[in-house]
Amino acid sequence: METLREIPLIVLGVGGVGRALLEQIVARREYHKRRYGLYLRIVALADSTGAAVVPEGLSDEELKQVVQTKAEGGRIADLPFGYYQNDVKNIVDLEATRETVVVDVTASMDTWEALMLARERKSALVLANKLPLTAPLSQAMALYEYPRLRYETTVGAGLPVIVTTKRLSASGEHIRRIIGVLSGTLGYLMTAVEDGVAFSKAVLKAKELGYTEPDPREDLSGRDVARKALILARTLGWKLEMEDVSVQSLYPEEWDTWPLEDVLAELIALDDDFFSWVDAARARREALRYVAHLEDGRVNVGIQFVPFDSPIGQLRGTDNMVEFHTEYYEPQPLVLAGRGAGVHATAAGVLSDIMEMALASHG
Ligand SMILES: NC(=O)c1ccc[n+]([C@@H]2O[C@H](COP(=O)([O-])OP(=O)(O)OC[C@H]3O[C@@H](n4cnc5c(N)ncnc54)[C@H](OP(=O)(O)O)[C@@H]3O)[C@@H](O)[C@H]2O)c1
Repeated sequence: METLREIPLIVLGVGGVGRALLEQIVARREYHKRRYGLYLRIVALADSTGAAVVPEGLSDEELKQVVQTKAEGGRIADLPFGYYQNDVKNIVDLEATRETVVVDVTASMDTWEALMLARERKSALVLANKLPLTAPLSQAMALYEYPRLRYETTVGAGLPVIVTTKRLSASGEHIRRIIGVLSGTLGYLMTAVEDGVAFSKAVLKAKELGYTEPDPREDLSGRDVARKALILARTLGWKLEMEDVSVQSLYPEEWDTWPLEDVLAELIALDDDFFSWVDAARARREALRYVAHLEDGRVNVGIQFVPFDSPIGQLRGTDNMVEFHTEYYEPQPLVLAGRGAGVHATAAGVLSDIMEMALASHG
């Protein structure tokens, strides 16, 4: 009988995505064994305060305990096999080898040193975390230039946006422009205002439905879309910094220092602007969208009017969509669309990246 090939994994971060990833790894054990002869052996896990390091691999029972404890707001350090730590570099130092896949599903820059050490050890890196990839170029290039890195879920979650960008770019085919709706929250808001709902009401509703971050300014500032746009631009080989991305915030800058309840109360002041934008767009048979637009080495993130009959003009609700307008994809662009967030779709994308690295290192 053929022996199972074991791939050691180090998972940094056990939040929504990290937990969904652990659940999927356990649920797919049989499938990965049968189809690929592979076993993903989780040798270390960390949250922001603790870790569990088990070189022979955490059992599925222990992994389920981790998931449950974290879902209930507990800490890895509280588990019988956990301990307190505040520097994940030590974990990588203990466990990372060339065969290891190091997975960063935190939302923190504090994993940087750990990622660099893993790179030195020639481990594979899989990131859902956008922050290291949007660091200053002098720093982030260490990641982009590393061939054993995958970061598919940083843009559009499970949608294959990065791999599509890389493939189009690799052939040398001229990419005229990329336009993306990369925030489900802002997509929802644009659809609502188009349907005649006041912007302030739409934001409050989105907050109630859990579509926004707890502080909706995180979404309305466009910062997260800007990070995704910068990752796309850098994937195209454009040497841009965060400051080079022009970002339109949907609220006045001075609100950044206000208490949240004052911002929510004042949103009503923005309603008329949105009503008139919708009217102006409609008069031109166009739709109002919050997009990332990449063209000629420049990146703009903000409100745009797009033709009603274009794919993005037809888009409604919280789905993401990316149009690639290229030499060979015109007048009809190559289009990717679908759910662009959510812990399960994201975790599945992270798992695909892990499997790709695991299978590539075969032999
Ligand atoms: N959710 C989505 O739909 C989605 C989609 C695409 C990409 N992403 C990206 O995926 C990442 C994870 O998202 P999420 O929703 O799972 O976030 P989350 O629920 O906030 O989880 C973050 C996890 O990282 C841990 N962490 C923070 N700093 C750490 C450190 N220095 N060392 C080790 N662990 C640390 C946290 O620890 P504690 O548990 O101790 O706080 C937590 O377990 C983010 O970068 C996010 O932008 C998410």
